[in-house]
Amino acid sequence: MILVTGGAGFIGANFVIDWLRVMGEAVVNVDKLTYAGNLGTLQSLHDDPRHSFARADICDRAAIGQLLSTYKPRAIVHFAAESHVDRSIHGPGDFVQTNVIGTFTLLEAAREYWSALEGEAKTSFRFLHVSTDEVFGSLGADDAPFSETTAYAPNSPYSASKAGSDHLVRAWHHTYGLPVLTTNCSNNYGPYQFPEKLIPLMITRALSGDALPVYGDGQNVRDWLYVGDHCSAIREVLVRGVPGETYNVGGWNEMKNLDVVHVLCDLLDRERPKQAGSYRDQITRVTDRPGHDRRYAIDARKLERELGWKPAETFESGLAKTVQWYLDNQEWVDDVASGDYRKWVTTHYAKVA
Ligand code: NAD
Ligand code: TYD
Repeated sequence: MILVTGGAGFIGANFVIDWLRVMGEAVVNVDKLTYAGNLGTLQSLHDDPRHSFARADICDRAAIGQLLSTYKPRAIVHFAAESHVDRSIHGPGDFVQTNVIGTFTLLEAAREYWSALEGEAKTSFRFLHVSTDEVFGSLGADDAPFSETTAYAPNSPYSASKAGSDHLVRAWHHTYGLPVLTTNCSNNYGPYQFPEKLIPLMITRALSGDALPVYGDGQNVRDWLYVGDHCSAIREVLVRGVPGETYNVGGWNEMKNLDVVHVLCDLLDRERPKQAGSYRDQITRVTDRPGHDRRYAIDARKLERELGWKPAETFESGLAKTVQWYLDNQEWVDDVASGDYRKWVTTHYAKVA
């Protein structure tokens, strides 16, 4: 079996669901269940004997050590993290704790477990660390996309804490020989994404008639990848990636934020027309995020060249699926939009009309 951390969050849960469907191998899913983790997301696995859930903090060395010796996984896929840039600006401490100290703790537990393995079990063991393109910093309009050799230049507390975790993972390979793999992926979207991130925030606020807050001039560029494609890339890297290597994952799909919001509004106008006007009428420009990175772009050619991976979805097909999913799953949104979420929205978007 494999051990997944953060499998009750957005990408981790999509990964676990896809993994069981495509690979059929058992998973022990370890998650602290912060505001971003939801067992409702894993409801379809409730009666699946291949899925075991354990509520634990990756900073808890004893708990992680116990899980490793009980389940004896052949690989660890590490998603658990604090993941929202705006929250990292308001409260960086949790990001350093989980992303840096948590990854360090997990690496140490993994090293102890792996050191005691023998033969084939030892050589085939893998620790796959899921990271972000944000560690590379911000690009100018004409700069080449981030490659695996781009120097790290993180700008937010979130990206700095992820960069720290990437460096630890690298060092545990270089120094101790732990067979690690790292993926650096661009912005994901798709089902089960917490409605604090751009795409689900805009869909859910559009439907509830609230203002759609676009930061600054709306011209910041992100590369968008459908979550199912990120999951298929991670599966490829886990099976065929070379220990110690890093792989950039991206959708070859750069978009300005305002254009993304326009496409979303147009999709909603078609699927759930308003009584009068367009969802575009709800768009509001708001004060920019401090230190807002201007552009991210990923060169994913290494993954294609070495492992034959390419995204299956276009932005149009992926976004249409995503909008439909949110229209069909209002109950999930209501469930995750707990007291904590409401508090975040009232404080962070206090000045939004
Ligand atoms: P998320 O915030 O939706 O989920 C994070 C999960 O980790 C939650 O279930 C949470 O309960 C759990 N968690 C948090 N702290 C924990 C702790 N101390 N111990 C155990 N579990 C804990 O995040 P996501 O968007 O699914 O991102 C998953 C990973 O992918 C992160 O490492 C993130 O940096 C990376 N990533 C995300 C994106 C993106 O666009 N969302 C892009 C590239 C990389
Ligand atoms: P986000 O989903 O938070 O991802 P990240 O900051 O990790 O790229 O934001 C994506 C882009 O959308 C980013 O440029 C910030 C912008 N944005 C807004 O304009 N308004 C919002 O309310 C949010 C949450 C993000």
